[in-house]
Amino acid sequence: MENEKYEVSSLFNEDIFRQIVEIWQRTGVGNAARGDSFEVVNRTLEHGGKILTLKENDTIIGTVWLTHDNRRLYIHHMALHPDWQGKRLSHYLLEDSLQYAHELGYQAKLEVDRDNLPAKHLYEKYGFKALGDFLVLIKREV
Ligand SMILES: CC(C)(COP(=O)(O)OP(=O)(O)OC[C@H]1O[C@@H](n2cnc3c(N)ncnc32)[C@H](O)[C@@H]1OP(=O)(O)O)[C@@H](O)C(=O)NCCC(=O)NCCS
Repeated sequence: MENEKYEVSSLFNEDIFRQIVEIWQRTGVGNAARGDSFEVVNRTLEHGGKILTLKENDTIIGTVWLTHDNRRLYIHHMALHPDWQGKRLSHYLLEDSLQYAHELGYQAKLEVDRDNLPAKHLYEKYGFKALGDFLVLIKREV
């Protein structure tokens, strides 16, 4: 990492989770309906996923959650705390995510709202392309 003020870490525990949830909530990438609890995140980590945090000095200012299905790496919940958005800091998280995909030898996939122009611009800059015009569906009841 070129700037020592910023560090990407894959350390994860309950206290870090609390700080991540605050960022998810403040940026709208997480909500209760999604069921993304500490236990759920840990389950994905046991299967080769990662939660990355971006720290400015000792403060967690951004995060991304990576999971895979032994075929593709999925990038979820990329978010920077609102006070740190628009400063070109998310590339630290995205580059480490893509490095992980590269190490695994997997293609990387993500979902982004078509109106989320900064996020779309960021992903396209790193080579992501729209995959058809699919509607994303989910069945919440298990
Ligand atoms: C999306 C997000 C992760 C981007 O991180 P960021 O560090 O704030 O973004 P950057 O400052 O690197 O800006 C991203 C790029 O979008 C560009 N951009 C900013 N506003 C834009 C707009 N309205 N239209 C098009 N491009 C725009 C920036 O100029 C930059 O590109 P550049 O480096 O080529 O100039 C961050 O803003 C965020 O956390 N948003 C809320 C949560 C979210 O939407 N997450 C995405 C879930 S898929």
